[in-house]
Formats: sequence, C-alpha cells, structure tokens
Amino acid sequence: MTRHAAFLGGTGSGKTTVAVNILEQLMVNGISVIMIDRKGDLCRYADPKAWSEDGLDADAKSRIHSLRDHVHVSLYTPGHTGGNPLAISLVPPDASNLSQMERERVARCSANALARIMDYTSQTPAQKAQYAILLKAIQVLLEMVEPSQITVDQLICFIDERAPSLVNAIGKLEDKHFSKLVENLQATRLTKGSLLDGSGKPLDIGALLGGRAEGADKKPQLSIISTKFLGDNQDIEFWVAQFLVAVERFVNQNPSNMLQAVLLFDEADVYLPAARKPATKEPMESLLKRARSGGVGLFLASQSPGDFDYKSRDNIRSWFLGRIKEETALKKMKPMLSECKSDVSDQLPAQEPGEFHITRDGQVEAFKANRSLIQPTQLPEDRILELARG
Ligand SMILES: Nc1ncnc2c1ncn2[C@@H]1O[C@H](COP(=O)(O)OP(=O)(O)OP(=O)(O)O)[C@@H](O)[C@H]1O
Ligand SMILES: [Mg+2]
Repeated sequence: MTRHAAFLGGTGSGKTTVAVNILEQLMVNGISVIMIDRKGDLCRYADPKAWSEDGLDADAKSRIHSLRDHVHVSLYTPGHTGGNPLAISLVPPDASNLSQMERERVARCSANALARIMDYTSQTPAQKAQYAILLKAIQVLLEMVEPSQITVDQLICFIDERAPSLVNAIGKLEDKHFSKLVENLQATRLTKGSLLDGSGKPLDIGALLGGRAEGADKKPQLSIISTKFLGDNQDIEFWVAQFLVAVERFVNQNPSNMLQAVLLFDEADVYLPAARKPATKEPMESLLKRARSGGVGLFLASQSPGDFDYKSRDNIRSWFLGRIKEETALKKMKPMLSECKSDVSDQLPAQEPGEFHITRDGQVEAFKANRSLIQPTQLPEDRILELARG
C-alpha cells in the first residue's frame, strides 16, 4: 500500500465503500488514516450513530467492536470556527532546514497556490510580473525569517515597503506591479479571511497521525478533514495544496520502510486532473513519488476516470476499477489496461456496485467487495460542525 492505489468508477459504483473497507482493515492493524472529505460522507466515521450495532450479525458486531477499540477518530473543519478548524501555514514550518533547491520548490508551491486564489490564471504580462514579485518575496523572506512568521499579512507589508532585499532580488520591474500585487493580496486577505488568518489548531501531520512516526505504541488515528467549509474550489485547492506540501515535509522527516499511514483523497480528479493545473497538481505528483519513503500510501478515488491524470500512473501500483461506462474514459485508460495480461475493458461497463477489477503489476483479477462497517452516507453541514465541536 506504500505504492498507492486508485479507485476508479462512475458514480455509485462503490469506490468509496471499497476504499474505506480496506482502510478499516488497515486501521485494525495499526495503520493511521487521514481522509480528505469533500462530500461529507466520510465524516460519518465521527458520528456515533454510524457505529450502531442494530441489525448486524455476530461477525460484523465483533469487527465493529474491534475497529472502535483500535481507532481514535477526530474530525476537522478548516475554514469554520464553529466546528474544529485547522490552520495551514503558507510555507512549511521546517522550510529553513531544506536545501536551496527544495526551498525554491516550496516557495513556488506557495506562490502558485496564492496566485490561484487571487485568480491569476490569464498569464497577462501584468500578472506574470506580479507573480514574479510574489515568488521572490516568499523566497527572500524564507532566507530572512522563521517560516512560521511568513503570513499573508507579512507578505503584504514586505512588498508594500519595497524592502531593499526584495527590490535587489527582483531587479527592474515597474513600481505599479508592486502596488497592484499589494492591493490584490489585501483584497484576498479580506475576502478569504478564514482561509488565510490562521485560525484554529496549526496543521501538524505528525499529530494527525497520532505520533506514530516516533514509534510510540499509541492507537492509530483516523483524522477526517472536511473541505466543505473552505469556500469555492480554488480555496479548497489552495488548502489541500498546502496540506500536501506539509505531508511531503513529514515524509521527508520520518523515513520508514513500513507502512505507517494512508491518506484517502475522494474525488481526486479535482486534485490531479488531466487537463488543468490546479495548485494541488504539482504537490500531488511529487507526493506520489516520495510518500513511499515515509511509509505513507495514497488512495485516490475518482468518479470521472476520464478527467484523472494518468501520467502519474507509474507511481500508482494498485488500480481498483469499478463500473466505467464512458467511451472517453475507457479510451483514456487503454494504455494502462493494455499492460495487463488480459484485456478487461469490455467487462468494466456492466459491473454492479461493489464489483471491481483490481490490476497490479500486470495482473488483473475480478472481485466483489464487502460493504464497509461504517456506511459512507452524506451528512448535512450542521451535523458535521456539531460532530467536529464534540
Ligand atoms: N460492496 C458493495 N456491495 C453492495 N452494495 C454496495 C457496495 N458498495 C457500494 N454499494 C452500494 O452502492 C452505493 C454507492 O456506494 P459508494 O458511495 O461507495 O459509491 P461511489 O462510487 O463512491 O459513489 P460516488 O461517486 O457517488 O461517490 C452504496 O450506497 C451501496 O448501496
Ligand atoms: Mg464516493
């Protein structure tokens, strides 16, 4: 599982169910899990009602007991102080210990993410100039102050002051670009307050994983992060991009050749789309390459397989293929399916919910998944907040 898994299938094909079923089994075996929940169905794990034993047979009762005894569940609602908020930093707290090249990459990820929530997508000369100032400002600040002090407010001051170290690093760029960037950052700071003001517990991947990395004999942790309260797609992408960078930092600091945690990204085509380049794309591609060295596996589920970027496929070992009907999706998956010993593309459209083909290392096998112990059914937002507060 440190070599990652993808769960592909149309809506209702049973992807979430099979993914969480596997995660339940891993948790009972001591593996911590983080679920990034867009829809509100994974939040069910934090709902005591979902753990009811009514109507379960003896075997399911004993398995649900075992899961409850083994796992500690936490629910987070970044972007909403009425729940259990979780704050991300603009750059990872340990960024000053990184090599020059890594620091530059981290700065680029932050600048890209900020540029996207400011809607700098048209790449006009003015936007390019402002992006260059933003990137340089983060890079120069990284050389000067503790990474945890690099906030949007500080960036605004630093650029507004035309700090000599920044102006020197940039060279010749018209002054109007500085002013415009400050104005846009300020507007973003005001409109995206909860996303950028750092309210809530600071994100600490080690803590979310229950300190397993230090070898402590603690219960595995199930941390569910609901992205429902972060705002629009760009805001979610911004937050998840910073989260991915933080996971990569964790992985680099905690090498392990044993599986220690699995991260589930449902609706992952949004983070790793074929045709777009959201803020999450580069950090996700990078994490797919590197997570293994920290014993961290990624589970990516997508209901639009055609939109999912297969370029990362060499870094994903296990493919769970549920019902896939769309011609375009099947066509895009052809190269991957042709690597298997037998071609199963004709069988994918007719599969029932819970029926999958798993392909890995050139082998392919059909199976029917069991239902998970906790049913991933969607919770309303007010209930998610209530559970997170609790
Ligand atoms: N292994 C299974 N056995 C029987 N029924 C199943 C199984 N898995 C899923 N189902 C049925 O299919 C429904 C949808 O399952 P699930 O939510 O896992 O699908 P999904 O592919 O994640 O859908 P979406 O794309 O909408 O998120 C479930 O409510 C359940 O009724
Ligand atoms: Mg689902």
